[in-house]
Amino acid sequence: MSLFGTFESTCHALRESCRGYPDGPPRVLDVGCGTGEMLAFVAGDIREGCGVDITHDAIASARRNAASLSHIRFERAAVEELPSLGLGTFDLVFIVGALEHMADPAVALRAVHAHTHAASRVVIVALSPKAPHAIVSRWMLAFTDHPVIGHLSVDALAELGSRTGYALEEAYPLYRGSRRTKAARGVGALLGAYDTLGGPTRAVVLAPQHHSDSSPLGESRPSGDGGAH
Ligand SMILES: C[S@@+](CC[C@H](N)C(=O)[O-])C[C@H]1O[C@@H](n2cnc3c(N)ncnc32)[C@H](O)[C@@H]1O
Repeated sequence: MSLFGTFESTCHALRESCRGYPDGPPRVLDVGCGTGEMLAFVAGDIREGCGVDITHDAIASARRNAASLSHIRFERAAVEELPSLGLGTFDLVFIVGALEHMADPAVALRAVHAHTHAASRVVIVALSPKAPHAIVSRWMLAFTDHPVIGHLSVDALAELGSRTGYALEEAYPLYRGSRRTKAARGVGALLGAYDTLGGPTRAVVLAPQHHSDSSPLGESRPSGDGGAH
C-alpha cells in the first residue's frame, strides 16, 4: 500500500473510468505505461489495451508481466512517436505519473489527440506541483533517467488541454479510499486544508474536442487498425 493510498485509489479510479461506454468495454491506450501495472489492473474491464513507454526495460517487464493477457500489448516508443505506430483510435487514454516526465507536454497531448475520437476520454493522473511529495520527487529524480520536468496544476492542465484540443471534464483528488462517489467527494472537500498546503494526487479528465470537418489541431485522424468508432 502506497503513501496516502494513491496507488490503490488510482487503480480504482482508472477501473471506474473504463465503465459506462455504450458499445461495451473500451479500447485503452496507456502512455508512459512503465511496467504496465495499470493496464494489468484493468485487464478484465477493457476490450483491448496498448501500453507505450520510451524505456526498453519497462516494456520488456510489461510484456513479461502481461504474458497471459492476450488482449494487451506493449510498444516501445516515445509519446512523440505515437503517430508512426498506426495504433488507431482509443476510447480511453491513461497518462499516469508520466506527463510530468515528458519534455513537452503540449506535444504529448497533441500526439494523443490524434488517437482519440469525439467520445474518448483522457485521464491524467498527476501530483499537484505544490504537494510535499511532488517537491521531494522533483529533487530525488533530478539526476536519474526520468527527471521530473514539471508537475502541472489542474488549472495548468486545463489551459494546456484547451491549447491542444481538449476540454476539462472533471478533476478529483486521489487518496486512500478515494472513489468517485458522493462520499469521497465529501471527504475531498474536507481535504481542502491539505489542498491549500500542496494537495494530493489528482485525476484530471480531458474530453478531446473533435469537429466533423477537421481536427482542431489541423491533423488528420489516424487510419490504423482497430480504430473504435
Ligand atoms: C513514473 S513512471 C509511471 C509509469 C506508469 N504510468 C505507472 O503509473 O506505473 C513514468 C514513465 O513515463 C515514461 N516516459 C517518460 N517520458 C516519456 C516519453 N516521452 N514517451 C513515453 N514514455 C515516457 C518513463 O519511461 C516512465 O516509465
